[in-house]
Amino acid sequence: VSSVPSLAGIPLKHISLVTLAVQNSMLTLIMHHSRVSTPPSRAYSAATAVLVNEVLKGLISLVIAYSRIESPPYSSDGSQAAGLSWALKTRSLMFRMRKLGKDVFSPDCWKLSIPAILYVIQNNLQYVAASNLDAATFQVTYQMKILTTAGFSVLLLRKKLNSSQWLALLFLAIGVGIVQIQAGEARGIPTMAPASVDVHTMNALKGFMAVASACFTSGLAGVYFEMVLKNSQADLWVRNVQLSLFSLLPALAPILVSHAGLGAGSWFTTLFRNFGVWAWATVAVQVFGGLITAMVIKYSDNILKGFATSLSIVISFLASVVLFQFKMTFTFVLGSVIVLIATWLYNQPPKRATALLSADALV
Ligand code: C5P
Repeated sequence: VSSVPSLAGIPLKHISLVTLAVQNSMLTLIMHHSRVSTPPSRAYSAATAVLVNEVLKGLISLVIAYSRIESPPYSSDGSQAAGLSWALKTRSLMFRMRKLGKDVFSPDCWKLSIPAILYVIQNNLQYVAASNLDAATFQVTYQMKILTTAGFSVLLLRKKLNSSQWLALLFLAIGVGIVQIQAGEARGIPTMAPASVDVHTMNALKGFMAVASACFTSGLAGVYFEMVLKNSQADLWVRNVQLSLFSLLPALAPILVSHAGLGAGSWFTTLFRNFGVWAWATVAVQVFGGLITAMVIKYSDNILKGFATSLSIVISFLASVVLFQFKMTFTFVLGSVIVLIATWLYNQPPKRATALLSADALV
């Protein structure tokens, strides 16, 4: 039996799920604030943010992937304990770099191009949604990706869900819907105070269309990544590097098109125009989220990931109560309790199946 990967005795599966829930709440609030707190004339480029996100995630994954490659054995008599010479160190470096290059550009690396393109589209759509819906509505409607994810898991991964897991999914949809009502009630706080022409305005229909499409890509990309990851021996971090590499072109494409006529000098300044503290904060939380998401997909699965992020609704509303004197209503508590019950229900071991299996084992 292989041991469960853990940190300070706590399974990585649990750590990554809780971290993802917290990260998701932070991202929704920070991204929304970064988009609506400035007038359109001072908005930063979402396409740049998506590109920077991919570059940073790729670099971090590259460093982790490199650090996981073991140095070659230099000599058979164990003399390396006495300290390595520079020549040996260089040889080790070259060996690990070569191994990393071989792993990253393995013949099956192209498989990552599909989730890479889907995630780039999704990450751009997320900015459209966050710019056109208030944070609460965005976060709750985005939870519908749990249903698309379950659908694709059954379809592509042939995942079998038992009846209580299907029931849990139904409860989750109901709970999310109820919290959505709460979100609707809580709306109406103007995000921009001064009335002038250069004011950020939100288009709810545009926002909902963006969320619906993002739910589709989220389900498909997540399940596809899980399929690639679990059907091969390749390291998670190598897969992440491949994912980022394939993301670069689609992430660069809209920038190249929109900056077509510019010279090299002004190209860079335009790219990062208005890229202030909140833009960097959004990217940082998103990079962190991408890395945690990858771990969640590896150590548990996409459907559980969905439950973790729906818990983040509860976390962000509680944070809103403390930070923004948000008024908690009965509808919110009811919806959140249903989400929590659904999460618990989904994680129940299938009792009958387990009982039958152990009965079989006795025969
Ligand atoms: O909303 P959802 O959970 O589908 O979002 C997944 C996010 O995680 C996307 O922003 C995607 O770019 C990122 N991700 C990643 N590396 C992975 C899997 C997902 O950066 N291996």
